[in-house]
Amino acid sequence: MSSFFNPVRLAMGEGSFAELGVHTARYGSHALIVTGREAMQRTGRLQQAQDLLAAAGVQATVFTGVRPNPTDIGIREAAARCRERGCDVILGLGGGSPMDTAKGVAVAGTHDRDIDDFLLFGPDGKKAKPGPQTLPIICVTSTAGTSSQLTPFAIINAEAARVKTSLAGDAIFPRVAICDPELTYSAPPRVTAATGIDVLCHSIEASFASGASPVTDLCVEKAVALVAEFLPRAVADGSDREARRALSEADIFAGYGLSNCGGTIIHALEHPLSAHYTDLTHGEGLAALLPAYARLFHAQSPARFAHLAALLGAGESSEQLEPALRQLLEKVGLSVTLGDLGVRADCVDEIVADTLRYNRGTLDRMPISVGEAEVRAMLVESM
Ligand SMILES: [Fe+2]
Repeated sequence: MSSFFNPVRLAMGEGSFAELGVHTARYGSHALIVTGREAMQRTGRLQQAQDLLAAAGVQATVFTGVRPNPTDIGIREAAARCRERGCDVILGLGGGSPMDTAKGVAVAGTHDRDIDDFLLFGPDGKKAKPGPQTLPIICVTSTAGTSSQLTPFAIINAEAARVKTSLAGDAIFPRVAICDPELTYSAPPRVTAATGIDVLCHSIEASFASGASPVTDLCVEKAVALVAEFLPRAVADGSDREARRALSEADIFAGYGLSNCGGTIIHALEHPLSAHYTDLTHGEGLAALLPAYARLFHAQSPARFAHLAALLGAGESSEQLEPALRQLLEKVGLSVTLGDLGVRADCVDEIVADTLRYNRGTLDRMPISVGEAEVRAMLVESM
């Protein structure tokens, strides 16, 4: 028995960014545009977004304070702006960080509770759930991608607690996701590679998760095949439009897997790592963990992992998955260890403890029992 749910209206393909104003006007009359400090200004996309909203009769307030690995502090600041200005729709413009921040603002700007109540477990062992007053969210992704535009999750750093964790709930599913590959053309090779590996991990994790269904299996299959063929091309030549479009589609397919299955052990481990090492890029951390995942778990579901290996162009054997992944990582310049990324061996105990303390639910999405031994093994073997 399985189920599938995704209520996000999807606008996709070259030129779909032009529909931003029309989509936004359906949900509000004053948008808070949440974006980073640099890329969307440099590429002119922020100005275009403002123009498109104005043409559709939507007022706009801009918040450009989003940093990579977004924090509860940034969300409080943006939510204050949202309340002050009376915004009634939130637009996340950029990569995963602006989109996740937008989701946080849609919640923090409308609830009489601190954002941390939705991020950290309370005395009852539960997190608060975003309610129906959550503002409508529109996401425009400039990477392919984090799939945040299609999920009911936002990954946020709770700074004081030093925890990177998820805000989750159906109320933060974006109303509209705009996936225009033209916005990804300006992503530099390293960003293209890291976000492509994020897509690959969302897919590989969804393929071996308790929420997997025939629908997500099909999506995962498509996403893995597209990443295998087109990620090396887009990294080698960012102007390869066919590759950019294919990766944008891979991000969408992976999003349907992620929104229904969630991440599993790779993401459960990467989040505490980038909470401790705030300069660590999500996709790079995942790249360092991926080979150990294949090595440790392939025997748990040989047919499934063999199929993934075949999609990556290796022989149809589960043992082939690890070398196939290593080859792909090599091709896109992300054949790295956690040590290469600056993670120190003496913090293993702390990362293991944080993974078990804060990401138990993510580990429990594996269809097998996963505990301290597996978490520690993944970490140690990835050093
Ligand atoms: Fe991810």
